[in-house]
Amino acid sequence: MIRDAWARPLGSLRVSVTDRCNLRCRYCMPEQEYVWLPRASILTFEEIARLVRIFASLGARKVRLTGGEPLLRHDLPVLTEMLAAIPDVHDLALTTNGVLLEKLAEPLRRAGLHRVTVSLDTLRPERMRELARTDRHADVLAGIAAAHRAGLTPLKLNSVVVRGTNDDELPALLAFARTHHAEVRFIEYMDVGGATGWSFDQVVSRQEMLDGIGRAYGEPDPLRNPDDPAAPAERFRLPDGTTFGIVASTTAPFCRSCDRSRLTADGTWLLCLYAASGVDLREPVRAGATDAELAELITTVWQGRRDRGAEERLRVAGRETLYPREALRADPHREMHTRGG
Ligand code: GTP
Ligand code: 5AD
Ligand code: SF4
Repeated sequence: MIRDAWARPLGSLRVSVTDRCNLRCRYCMPEQEYVWLPRASILTFEEIARLVRIFASLGARKVRLTGGEPLLRHDLPVLTEMLAAIPDVHDLALTTNGVLLEKLAEPLRRAGLHRVTVSLDTLRPERMRELARTDRHADVLAGIAAAHRAGLTPLKLNSVVVRGTNDDELPALLAFARTHHAEVRFIEYMDVGGATGWSFDQVVSRQEMLDGIGRAYGEPDPLRNPDDPAAPAERFRLPDGTTFGIVASTTAPFCRSCDRSRLTADGTWLLCLYAASGVDLREPVRAGATDAELAELITTVWQGRRDRGAEERLRVAGRETLYPREALRADPHREMHTRGG
């Protein structure tokens, strides 16, 4: 196992398979136009599988497919099958907005995908129209049902909570998750790249969420998750047994135990969600580097890792958006939809 400069292991890899998305969530893709990664730079399935194999051999046993919206990548079940066949990959998951999930859940399951997390910020179609510029709310609900039927479990739902937008829906989302065999995780609105409309007053803190949930359903009890100390979500149980999670990346970051890194669709390796830049792995892959050379490069870079992006943001006085629009346009790798949530 390799460890970084703060003794954090390389434990999980988030693989973005496309920077494209079919939604425009306000907290992620609020702009009218975007600069996309050049087509020729997008890794092939063979290139992705090779890199994942090398990462897994170095300790990244958890692999999560992300985007943009990963289901927009053609033939995703084919890639899934290639990744599921890697013995060192013990957990193979997918984060999706769910719009295209209904038809793909079963083929993905057959290809060897273990589980999915679906983003669901609201139960109201008209609200989703405003929040994500889409009228496909019903398709997302159908996708969630299909994921359960296909056995893509444990099934999780991600809700980014934004003040004045969906912060009145926490009890309803909890009730929905309970009746749909899923666990909801409420996510604090983060000032990551892409969130150009972010301001601190729109962040609903973990504490505020717990207070509101407590008023609706009784005091939530913290659960311990000893099986994965690096998981970003803190889990809780309500008096009726319902469990849920809170991802408090903004007010209580968990950089101390962060074992994750990200590979963008063009093979840029990012050591932190907040990293200003990454390491180009596509270039050595296409220049003919051997597996051993790539493993050595990854090891050296990981051993020097000191990133604690979210914690550093806590110390910024008068915190505003991480990047202005011009900085995002200058380098699309800074966008949340490029680095995969
Ligand atoms: P599991 O615990 O394995 O189910 O996955 P996960 O919770 O890591 O995956 P998911 O894609 O659902 O991520 C949930 C949320 O955690 C994301 O939407 C982000 O808000 C947050 N998150 C994920 N990765 C990072 C990270 O590297 N740093 C920070 N600060 N937040 C992250
Ligand atoms: N703050 C918090 N979470 C975000 N995501 C995207 N942008 C933000 C943000 N600004 C989340 C999505 C999805 C995951 C991939 O990243 O809701 O669940
Ligand atoms: Fe929304 Fe995810 Fe698409 Fe971003 S990448 S706009 S969070 S669905």
